[in-house]
Order: sequence, then C-alpha cells, then structure tokens
Amino acid sequence: MSRIRIADLLSRELSPGSVVVKGWVRTKRDSKAFSFLELNDGSCLANLQVVADATLPGYEESVEPARTGAAVEVEGEVVESQGQGQRWEMQATRVTLVGAAPEDYPLQKKGHSLEFLRSIAHLRPRTNLFGAVFRIRSRMAFAIHRFFQERGFVYVHTPIITASDCEGAGEMFRVVTMEGEKVRGGAEEFFGKPTYLTVSGQLEGETFACALSNIYTFGPTFRAENSHTSRHAAEFWMIEPEIAFCDLEGDMTLAEEMVKYLVNDALDHCAEDLDFCNRFVDKGLLERLAFVRDRSFERISYTDAVELLRASGEAFEFPVEYGLALQSEHERYLTEKHFRCPTTVYNYPKEIKPFYMRRNDDEKTVAAMDLLVPGIGEIVGGSQREERLEVLLANLREQDLEESAYDWYVDLRRFGTVPHAGFGLGFERLLMFVTGVGNIRDVIPFPRTPGSAEF
Ligand code: 4AD
Ligand code: MG
Repeated sequence: MSRIRIADLLSRELSPGSVVVKGWVRTKRDSKAFSFLELNDGSCLANLQVVADATLPGYEESVEPARTGAAVEVEGEVVESQGQGQRWEMQATRVTLVGAAPEDYPLQKKGHSLEFLRSIAHLRPRTNLFGAVFRIRSRMAFAIHRFFQERGFVYVHTPIITASDCEGAGEMFRVVTMEGEKVRGGAEEFFGKPTYLTVSGQLEGETFACALSNIYTFGPTFRAENSHTSRHAAEFWMIEPEIAFCDLEGDMTLAEEMVKYLVNDALDHCAEDLDFCNRFVDKGLLERLAFVRDRSFERISYTDAVELLRASGEAFEFPVEYGLALQSEHERYLTEKHFRCPTTVYNYPKEIKPFYMRRNDDEKTVAAMDLLVPGIGEIVGGSQREERLEVLLANLREQDLEESAYDWYVDLRRFGTVPHAGFGLGFERLLMFVTGVGNIRDVIPFPRTPGSAEF
C-alpha cells in the first residue's frame, strides 16, 4: 500500500479508506484501552489524529515507545472524526516504529522561544511556526518563477564568485584558497586576481538583458555589512529582474505588480499557514495582506518625502535632511503613519547612490527607487541604469572606481546601448512581510549573521 500525504488525506471530501501515513509524533495520550497519536508529516500544518487500540499486535514495541519526536508508519482506516476540529481521523490497524526519540527530545508541547528554536535550527522545521514559514517560503519561490515566466522573462544564473563590487560599498566577503590551515593569497591567487562572493547579480544581469530583453536572476547574495538588525543577514536571496527598453516608470510598475502578485498568490495557496501566522505571530496580518492585494500603492519623490518628513513634527532619532539616506524609522513613518500602504520613493540624490544609476536631467538626482512596506521599510531597491557611455565613465571616475574592472560592463554602452532598468527584491524581506515574522533569522532555514554561522 502506498503512502499518502496527510495534507492530501485531510483535504479529501470522501474517505480514502485504508491507507498508510508516515510522519513524526507531535504528542501521544494514553488511556487503558488505546493511545491517541497526533501525527505530522510536514505536508500541512494540521496533524492527523491516529487511534491505536491497546489490542493491536505489537502495541508494546511500537506504540508505547512512540513518544513525541518519534518517527512512525501507520496503516489504518480513515473514518469520520468523533472529535472537533477536523473531518477525518485514522483507526490504526498497524503501527511501525521507524525511529524512536528519547524523553529528552528538545521540542516539547510547551511553546518555545524563537531564540531557543534558533539554537536547534536542525529541529525547528518540526514546529508549527517553522513548518508554516518554510512552506510559504517554498511557495513564494515558485510564485516568483511563475510571475516572471508568465511574462516571458528568461531566468539567468549569474555567478556567485565575482571580481566586481556591484554596489561599490565594499561590503564583500573575499574568496581565498587554503593550503592546509593557511590562507593562500597574493600571486598565488586562484583566479589571478582578488575575487569575492557576489553582493548582487545585477551587472551580469544587465549584459543578458541587453541581449534577451527581459531577464531575472534568483539566487544567494552575500553582504559583509556589520548590521545587527532584524532585517539584515550576511547571506540572503535576491530576485533581480532587468528589462531592456525600460525606464524608471516601467521599473516601479513591475515592482509593484510583483509584490501584489506574490501577496495574492500567498493568500490563495497558503491559507492555512497564513491563518496560523495571523493567530500566533501578527494579529493584523491577513487584513494587511488583503489591503495590499486590493489597493494601489503610493509613490513620492525623495525630495518631497524629505519635506513631508521634516514637516511631520515627528521626533526622529536620525536627522532628516536633503542628501542623507532615509533611515528605517523614516521609511516606516511614510508607510505606517502617513500613507498607510506600500510606498515607492524615487529620484534620490546622486551622492548617496551607486555609479550605475541613471543621472536625471536636474543633474542632482538619479533615477533610483525603493519600494517600502509597512513594518519593514525597504523590500525592493532598483533604478534605471546609466546607458550613456560618457556619463557612466564620468560616474566611475567620480566614485574612484577602477575603470578597467568594469570594462565589460562599460562595453554594453558602446555596442547598441539601450535604456534599461531593474531592481532587487530581498526574498527574506518579502517573507517577513508575508508571514509577519519580525526577525529575518526566522525566515531563513540556517541563518548567517555577524558572529553566527551554525549548522
Ligand atoms: O538595495 P540593494 O542593495 O540593491 C541592489 O543590490 C541592486 N543591485 C538591485 C538591482 O537593482 N538589481 O538590495 C536589494 C534588496 C533590498 O531592497 C533588500 O530587500 C535586500 O535586497 N537586502 C537585504 N536583505 C537581507 N539582508 C541584507 N543584508 C540585505 N541587503 C539588501
Ligand atoms: Mg537599497
């Protein structure tokens, strides 16, 4: 008899009859005549209740030791549940103990803190919350591919090891080879020059957009920024579309459409898991997601945003002044107090943005945009790219960047240059927004942050 997923079993309209399920015991209650096992196989949030009579052959060897955490295989008849809460339960005809768990299994029924669960990241996917979060993470990754594939975008794999610092911020991890315990370097360098883990696939993505027109990347990204915030990780995933023959307006529209599409997809396909997050993580979650799906977003220029913030009378910790970066408290004021919805801020001063952004006609600002959402701040950062050769070369010089390191990038402006634009969506920031989870470590299977690379 073949195994059935608990998600499939519980969603049946008609009883599937006699089946086999396999999973881990969440709890067991024993009475004289029978045991109740709550079984979870990770296919959905809900457990399957299994009733095992004490008269079952092998009861002492298989059911009695099947404590919380143990893996079991159960064959049985699916019947209408007598209890509340679910439609089906299982009357076991055979229980096989696949893997026992000792009494000191770290996950007991009582609620554990998120901090404690991070310290046992190899077991935390077995909890309700992390099961839900990582099923949503999987669904969102699929939805991202769907969004772009439905629109004819080509998926490009940009390199993880690179020689160029896309963001020009120097927050890179260096790649070296080892000789025993010793780090090799200098003339022995493997690639003949210094290389790093990528901070963004954008520059390589642009070369493909200038051939295949509409492309996207979706892969791991690394930043050695020493930010101890709940929104920064040293290793995270980024989605970076790049569109040829596109300006900032088209870029902002695509980012807004994408965020709406993903929220809509989560509401459609992750209802049970989102409902759990709404009950136990963030009581306003479902209402906020429905709002984001149904309403249009706001847009405001950086210059107007600075004026608005200065006039707000709000006591901010960091100063608001033209020419300074917006801090997360400013971003949150815009989305949570002023507009009360996702907001795109565009046209930032050129001094605070990377060399590749397109200079506006005012000569002061560049065609940059950040999409901000309530509760988090920036989830998307993007721009129209500087497609004019002379201006790009001047930018490189102005920012003291080695022209020779970017010659291939500059070449795109020599051979059939076109206006083009793109953005980066932080996958984990999106997941924080969709699940209501407040710390980026809790939407990453094995988080890497300053001082921590366990597992
Ligand atoms: O704004 P960023 O730095 O933009 C770029 O990297 C551009 N090259 C993207 C492009 O135009 N193709 O990063 C993009 C997004 C941010 O908006 C944020 O959501 C996320 O990546 N991000 C981080 N997420 C987690 N931890 C970090 N340390 C992050 N740094 C950026
Ligand atoms: Mg940014």
